[in-house]
Amino acid sequence: MSPEINPDVVSEPIFPIDADRMHKFDPAMTELMTDYVKERLAMTDTSVDGLGDRQHLEGVMSGLIGDGPRPAKEVLDIYVDHLAETILSSDSPRFFAFIPAAPTKAALLFDMVVSAASLQGCSWLEAAGAVMAENQALRVLADIAGLPASAGGVFVSGGSAGNLSALVVARDTARYRRSAAGLPEMRMRVVVSDQAHSSIKNALNIVSMDALVVPTLDGRMAEEDIRSAIAKTPEVGDVIAIVATAGTTNAGIIDDLAGAAKVAQEHGWWFHVDGAYGGAGMLSRNLRHRYDGVELADSLVMDPHKWWFAPFDSAALIYRDPRLAKAVHTQNASYLDVIHDDAEDFNPSDLAYHLTRRARGMALWFSLAVNGIDAYRDAVDYSLAMTKYAVKRIRTLRDLELIREPDLSVILFRRLGWTQANYEAWGHQLLRDQTAFVTHSAWRGETVGRLVLLHPGTTTEMVDDVLATLV
Ligand SMILES: Cc1ncc(COP(=O)(O)O)c(C=O)c1O
Repeated sequence: MSPEINPDVVSEPIFPIDADRMHKFDPAMTELMTDYVKERLAMTDTSVDGLGDRQHLEGVMSGLIGDGPRPAKEVLDIYVDHLAETILSSDSPRFFAFIPAAPTKAALLFDMVVSAASLQGCSWLEAAGAVMAENQALRVLADIAGLPASAGGVFVSGGSAGNLSALVVARDTARYRRSAAGLPEMRMRVVVSDQAHSSIKNALNIVSMDALVVPTLDGRMAEEDIRSAIAKTPEVGDVIAIVATAGTTNAGIIDDLAGAAKVAQEHGWWFHVDGAYGGAGMLSRNLRHRYDGVELADSLVMDPHKWWFAPFDSAALIYRDPRLAKAVHTQNASYLDVIHDDAEDFNPSDLAYHLTRRARGMALWFSLAVNGIDAYRDAVDYSLAMTKYAVKRIRTLRDLELIREPDLSVILFRRLGWTQANYEAWGHQLLRDQTAFVTHSAWRGETVGRLVLLHPGTTTEMVDDVLATLV
């Protein structure tokens, strides 16, 4: 007997006619986009761009998104003709501000694969291949740092997210130990240098911890600085960690990592190394010894989207003992039990504050495999050589003074007689002329010029173009 059919239900048009119209393969749109992408990838001396006019942009975009469709070409043209040029090209070889980007073509291309295939990297169950690839890339980074075979981690969105997730583990590991020892809860402190990145302060605020700030003489946190700061502090029973920086953002200074690690070990404190920018400097054989002590880190952050030549957004967060991170960051819910069935499984989601995550480390993985690590060493050495060239030139120019000998690829300099307004006007003019993107900074309360030379496409002529505007 056939089941009874309710004619009202059957005749009701409950399914929209063409709901998958957005999901169908569209050869014309695909060609349009791949043509643009090819054009963009082929650029070498990418212009700096930048400087948007709000009124113009508002006019261009007004009413663009409505209930109905628009031709892809029309919208792409708006992006190419009006929006793209107002977005500073951080991958331009003339981008010398903040920390530039210089993704390899292989990394950019594989990042498109990650997008095209919607590659996620949450758990072993869902993404074994992605987890293997990301872990292989993380292993390269861990090996360069000299971390033990048991070390492991995860790619997060940026150095800030990495620092935050690491400090949560530091805090909760200390809390757990206190509780196991029968000690009461307390507000905790972390030893940081006066040059630590702003994300450290933010992270401490988020996790309700305070900073014990170590004043530095020349920007480098040395063992003596830490000991002297501790000696001047009446009570350090609430300190649980030391954060050292392997390449400060402002001046590219590598802290005394071995000294910091020694103090941390003596006190049983967590040792975190923020190498978001400068960690890649370890690739240079001439510089590797400056990082001695990094191998003792309990957690280490290095950003592939900075000097490891990967696209945004990618930061490697590596723990000496990832089990400690797993104990803190694992999210538990009945629908997640399935990914935690096997205690040995390695789930990237369990190692930082996130759940769903893009397999963002695969771009670095592909590029490392395709190019080989020697190509990375050469690219880092090129930035260091270009920095030396710029320093030499600055020394020869009459009105310029170097603030300090760079450890890495950040140069701070003084233009005699200039005030902040001069530096600002200089930066604006360089951008208007598309000579370079440069921003000023401060050193010991004084406004100074700052150049970061990281891109392998930066030439001595480009550097000379900028320096010529200072004389
Ligand atoms: C030393 C250091 N730590 C952390 C960060 C923050 O990284 P992100 O911008 O990827 O969050 C930076 C950024 O420049 C940095 O230089």
